Parts: sequence; structure tokens; C-alpha cells
Amino acid sequence: MGVGVLGVGHFVPDKVLTNKQLEQIVDTTDEWIRTRTGIEERRIAEDDMDTSDMAFLAAEKALEDAQIKASDIDLILVATVTPDTPFPSVACMLQERLGAKKAAAMDLSAACAGFMYAMITGKQFIETGAYQHILVIGVEKLSKITDWTDRNTCVLFGDGAGAVVLGKVSDGKGILSFELGADGSGTKHLYQNDNRYISMNGREVFKFAVRQMPQSSVNVIEQIDLKKEDVDYLIPHQANIRIMNAARERLGIPEEKMAKVIHKYGNNSSASIPIALSESVHSGKIREDDLIVLVGFGGGLTWGAVALRW
Ligand code: ACO
Repeated sequence: MGVGVLGVGHFVPDKVLTNKQLEQIVDTTDEWIRTRTGIEERRIAEDDMDTSDMAFLAAEKALEDAQIKASDIDLILVATVTPDTPFPSVACMLQERLGAKKAAAMDLSAACAGFMYAMITGKQFIETGAYQHILVIGVEKLSKITDWTDRNTCVLFGDGAGAVVLGKVSDGKGILSFELGADGSGTKHLYQNDNRYISMNGREVFKFAVRQMPQSSVNVIEQIDLKKEDVDYLIPHQANIRIMNAARERLGIPEEKMAKVIHKYGNNSSASIPIALSESVHSGKIREDDLIVLVGFGGGLTWGAVALRW
């Protein structure tokens, strides 16, 4: 028995904020943002749409895709650093709204690596036989903790949600290996400051990410005695196209085999990997039996990677 993804879905708000529009807000240019990050535009949630609203819309799609009823979910795990409130959790809000009456529910925080942490946490409960179906969501409304006067950060982030239903799959399929890690000495490089805004030393985070993302991608493949050439598809955290390409090049994967949504959504933190997975699956880029590597990093500093047979 393996543990894998039974269904996947995502939601992004309609409102688009382009680089050109950002030129009116801070001292930046479309050209700077494109060449340094790969971002062209991002989605911003309206004031009346909070994190739990986006999570709900993504969750409904994942449940429908998996053909699982909310009442059959045993546990809801929500990875987010932008919950509606510190408590109650977004997961509890969803439990009520979805009608997932028997589900336990909790939020989990590991910044942009949050979805990887949540996915691997969910896997354990299914493997032990404690639970059958787990809803795992990565969701962020980063716009509410973005300092719109800070050009170092405000050009990078966007809002959105991605969700998967985890369950039992046949042997040899699903999550084959994983790596999770943290380096608390890096807390000073990326954090929420006293004004509740994102504060970042971009250069330090960049250096860490171009080292860790490629290394973790290779580690999860070597753990299962496979080679880089066996990887069919890469889903990296969508933080910066240059960081994504560093992981891709280390695996020797051509551009068309890497999920890329950063140009239209920016960095959605814990939502970026499940959004990219959902778009890749529903556009037919991922096929049965493909070997996929998902890899992310984030504030903490944290990181996580998974090798998964689809
Ligand atoms: N427009 C124009 N100029 C800018 C902007 C902007 N939006 N932002 C910064 N600059 C300036 C800087 O002030 C700097 O000027 P200076 O040299 O006079 O001081 C100059 O551009 C160059 O800055 P660098 O830091 O060298 O630019 P770099 O090529 O490293 O790109 C970037 C900056 C895009 C932030 C990059 O470092 C990066 O992507 N870092 C990683 C960020 C990241 O992945 N964060 C993850 C967050 S995940 C989470 O947990 C939320």
C-alpha cells in the first residue's frame, strides 16, 4: 500500500495586479521584476475574501476531483502563515463549512515549505492505518501582510490556494520518499516584523534557496535508488524563476518538464506548490506513472521535498 494524491484543485482570485500597475505604487519597473524574478503579474484577493474563503474553494475542487465526500475526510491540515485569525484555525473553519463532521482539524506553519510539511504529516496518519482520507491545503492571503511601500518584497507575492486529498494508492505509487529540514539560524533573513509585514533579506534567502532546492531534489531521488534521468516532472516552489531553474538544471530537466506558474501568480508561499500541481495535472502535463519531484523552501528557514509516482 502507498499513500498518494486522490484528487487536486486550486483557486486564485480574479483581481490581477500587473508589474506595470506596481510601477505606480513603488519605485520599480516591469523590466526589473521580470528579469530578476520571472513574475509578470499576481492575483490579489478582495477585502471580503479571506484565507479560509480561498481554502474552501480549492478544497471543494479537490474533493470533487477525488470523488470523495467531505463527510469521509478524517483530518484537515492547512498550511498557512496568513490565517484569518491565530485561532480558531482555518482548518476548523473549513471543517464546518465543508460539513466534514468527523474530521480532526489543524493549521500548520512552515512558511513556503508548509505544504510539503503538511503533506508528509498527512502521509504518516494514513500509513499507520489511523486515517483513510486527509485533506491537505496550502493557502495564503499574503497581500494582507505585504508592505506596499517596500519594493524589496511587495513585487514578489500573490494570493491563492491549492488542495489535495491524500489516500491509499497501490504499491509503488504515491509518495516514495521525502526530506524535510529546517535551519533556525536563518530566522533573521525572512520574518514577519513588528508592523506585521513580511521582512526579507532577499540576497541571503536567494543564496540558501539555490543551494537547498537542487540538493533536496536530488536527495529524494537518491533515497529510492533512482537517477536524475528517471524524473519526469519537477514542481518547485514558485519564488523566483532563477531559483526554480537552479533545481531544474541540477536534475537535467528541460524547461517544458518543470511546472511554471510564477509569471502569472507570483510567490503564493505555501499555496504555490499545490497550485502548480493542480494546473499541471488538469492541463494534462502529468501522466499516469510519471515520477514527480515536488520541492519547496521558505522562512524559518525550512525546506521539504517529495518524490511521488503519479
Ligand atoms: N525594483 C527595482 N529595484 C529593486 C527592487 C524592485 N522591486 N527591489 C530591490 N531592488 C534593488 C535593490 O535595492 C538593490 O539596489 P542596491 O544594489 O542599490 O541596493 C538592487 O535592486 C539589486 O538587489 P539584489 O538583491 O542584488 O537583486 P537580486 O538580483 O538578488 O534580486 C530578489 C532580488 C528578487 C529579491 C532575489 O534576491 C530573490 O528572489 N531572493 C529570494 C526571495 C525569495 O525567494 N523569498 C522567498 C520568500 S518565501 C516565504 O517564506 C514567504
